[in-house]
Amino acid sequence: MSNIHLVGFERARDAVAVEVEHKLDMLLPREGGVEARIFEAMRYAVFAGGKRFRPFLACESARLFGVRDESALRVAAAVECVHTYSLVHDDLPCMDDDDLRRGQPTVHKQFDEATAVLAGDALLTFAFEILVHDATHEDQRIRCELIRKLARASGGQGMVGGQMIDLLSEGQEIDMVAITRLQRLKTGALIAFACEAGAVLGRASSEARMALTAYAHDMGLAYQITDDLLDAEGSAGEVGKATGKDEAAGKATFVSVLGVERARAQARMLSDQAIQHLDLFDEKADLLRQAARFVVSRRS
Ligand code: IPE
Ligand code: IPE
Ligand code: MG
Ligand code: MG
Ligand code: MG
Repeated sequence: MSNIHLVGFERARDAVAVEVEHKLDMLLPREGGVEARIFEAMRYAVFAGGKRFRPFLACESARLFGVRDESALRVAAAVECVHTYSLVHDDLPCMDDDDLRRGQPTVHKQFDEATAVLAGDALLTFAFEILVHDATHEDQRIRCELIRKLARASGGQGMVGGQMIDLLSEGQEIDMVAITRLQRLKTGALIAFACEAGAVLGRASSEARMALTAYAHDMGLAYQITDDLLDAEGSAGEVGKATGKDEAAGKATFVSVLGVERARAQARMLSDQAIQHLDLFDEKADLLRQAARFVVSRRS
């Protein structure tokens, strides 16, 4: 599909980006005493740019169920805080050791390593502070469910677990089953949270929830395969981070296991499959359908 069909998606994603950035600007602490440097580093990481793809998913899935904007945007802001924290820590010298992120020096380069560790910690915990607030949802059981799901998606049984496997797999021979699990945890879990959160906020039927979860699983995997393809084929100028690093570090990726062409075919197949999971939704889900196309055609 040519990118012309994604104009609606891109416009919608940019609109969500503006709104979620405004929300984050309102929410993130700014002033402090001696500790103000931590707020500066958090803001530096969050406002460096980024596609705001997870906020888009949270807002679009919420829209399917008529959720009010304030709730959706708070969840979108929370998931972006966790995602940004994961990038700040992922870039540290003890992890992927990267100097460039979102087209700017990484947080540990701009500040220092200790500040980057602390900024990541503070963004992670701040996400839960956002969710727990009454303004996220009037029903505290819904807020608790969101908190439980985000905690699970972020921690050792989610993104952090995936990052652990990612590091342990460096230089190892790893099969398709293992690589799929790695990617689902590392990247898929937070993407799945973003998609499912709208259904939680909107008290959606279990059928609708399951469809969104299945959509998110396939799309999250396709998203990381494209990230790996961009590392192999993209340029730092385009993607805003160093490329060619996975092979140099001996990372286990779909590209290292399947090669470029088969990895690309796998991502396309997953994108098609993701779209099929949305069959029970009407045209209200069209932007989510386009999002699944975007994940395999994106150039950054
Ligand atoms: C990068 O995520 C890391 C992955 C989990 C693939 P994004 O490509 O969504 O990064 P930003 O938020 O746009 O910078
Ligand atoms: C990291 O995957 C995903 C996270 C959970 C942060 P990568 O290490 O491939 O992400 P990039 O390429 O640095 O954005
Ligand atoms: Mg990494
Ligand atoms: Mg990395
Ligand atoms: Mg990568």
